[in-house]
Amino acid sequence: MSALTVPTQPFAGQRPGTSGLRKKVTVFQQPHYLENFVQSLFDILPDADQRAAQTLVLGGDGRFHNRVAVQTILRMAAANGFGRVLVGQGGLLSTPAASAVIRKRAAFGGIILSASHNPGGPDGDFGIKYNIGNGGPAPEKITEAIYQRTTEITAYQTTATADSADLDLDTLGTTTLGGPAGMAVEVIDSVALYADLMQTLFDFEAMRGWFAAGHRMRMDTMCAAGGPYAKAVLEGLLGAPAGTVVNGEPLEDFGGHHPDPNPAHATELIAAMTGAAAPDFGAASDGDADRNMILGRDFVVTPSDSLAVMAAHATKVPGYAAGLKGIARSMPTSCAADAVAKALGIPSHETPTGWKFFGNLLDADRVTLCGEESYGTGSNHVREKDGLWAVLFWLNLLAVTGESVESLVRGHWARFGRHYYSRHDWEGIPTDRADTLMTALRAQLPALAGQSFGALTLETADDFAYTDPVDGSVSTRQGVRLLFAGGARVVFRLSGTGTEGATLRVYLERFEADPARHDLPPQDALADLITLADRVASIRSLSGQAAPTVIT
Ligand code: G1P
Ligand code: ZN
Repeated sequence: MSALTVPTQPFAGQRPGTSGLRKKVTVFQQPHYLENFVQSLFDILPDADQRAAQTLVLGGDGRFHNRVAVQTILRMAAANGFGRVLVGQGGLLSTPAASAVIRKRAAFGGIILSASHNPGGPDGDFGIKYNIGNGGPAPEKITEAIYQRTTEITAYQTTATADSADLDLDTLGTTTLGGPAGMAVEVIDSVALYADLMQTLFDFEAMRGWFAAGHRMRMDTMCAAGGPYAKAVLEGLLGAPAGTVVNGEPLEDFGGHHPDPNPAHATELIAAMTGAAAPDFGAASDGDADRNMILGRDFVVTPSDSLAVMAAHATKVPGYAAGLKGIARSMPTSCAADAVAKALGIPSHETPTGWKFFGNLLDADRVTLCGEESYGTGSNHVREKDGLWAVLFWLNLLAVTGESVESLVRGHWARFGRHYYSRHDWEGIPTDRADTLMTALRAQLPALAGQSFGALTLETADDFAYTDPVDGSVSTRQGVRLLFAGGARVVFRLSGTGTEGATLRVYLERFEADPARHDLPPQDALADLITLADRVASIRSLSGQAAPTVIT
């Protein structure tokens, strides 16, 4: 018996947000901070009497503090009596790979250390989240229970000093760590497991042929967790030329970059995809490799369009040849996928922001594809969004249709119409001002409905609420929606993933059926909605900022 009970006390504010607890590294470095959260998690997990038979999966996106946190959590898992922990080699696991490992190895759950696309390094962000046995993010019921526990905690368990030498995370294989019964620590090759899963879904023959025929691709993994997976699949299994994957070495500070694949932060990729000499296909993934960005030569695909195009062509991909059960999108994501679902005669679901809301629909086999406007796309193969999966899906489509990225998207608009879309982020607003803005906006809703603003008639003004069709749980206050006649929308919500002040997200959408009007710059197509959003919510005056900080 070598468990040690360490007295401690609650920290304020350990409430998980949209995807786990996310704070500055310096916050996580406070003594007991990570430990208190992890013990609170262990305390609320069910079946405590069966810990010795339970397996956990553990790993992260490799950012600064990842290795330290992995060692801490291993000691605590051992002291809490878990039987086995599967750790990604080097402490690395992309978020989708973690989900795949949990499912494949029938683990009890998993702990993912990531702050996703937020900057890393000593002054950057760190994060932790728990995924349940289906491989997906813990539902609100669990995250809320963890939070409640963090407000009461008085002690945590860890292994005694004699057992506390750091474990070797780099050599594949199994070792034993102290604790009540001795816990197996198995360092696993998650890249191989993930690559195997991809081969069950995609036409590797066709994709190999696409590269062999001389087509070229640029995959930017942004010095983050996706590098090893992308290299193994694209340059290894598919025979893409060396150098296809750029920024492929995971770095603790992501090379000083913001590992967020969008037009604001993937400027190097966009530049490389511009001009006649650019590769045929460009893509990027984020810090923990669950997000994706898709580009053609001189052409950027919006995530909402990407989901819709994938859905429309899904039966061309082996893993989806039998057709889709349904499609789910987060509420702020454009309605482009709904149009496809309608044409296919399958259900479409509108959920709150955050991948955890897709889990029940996927488990109940009610949907096959899911997506968010925030560069997240995924399917029932795991329970997280999956960056490289989305890239392979597009690559499979390019290979079997012989079309270009641009022609696939233009063909889609011609058939279904174009859903012009943009998101404006107003970052770093003092929290009290952001709260004032949302409160004032909510107070106006009853008076707004039915009003006309120039050519725009407001049909509905509400605060999105969602009832999970599988378990009946209700989530309220998920975003203020202004819904106009003809399908135009403006949605306002505050980010749940930031670590500094508040971020207001304003989502803008307008439908255009006329193919002659499919070539407008999106900001022009949405200009009247942009003006209206500011007028209704007084964004400029309340934020004190003249313009959004990020436009995607
Ligand atoms: C953001 C995105 C959301 C995504 C989440 C995690 O959350 O908007 O779609 O699921 O990151 O990647 P937010 O900061 O808006 O709460
Ligand atoms: Zn991410």
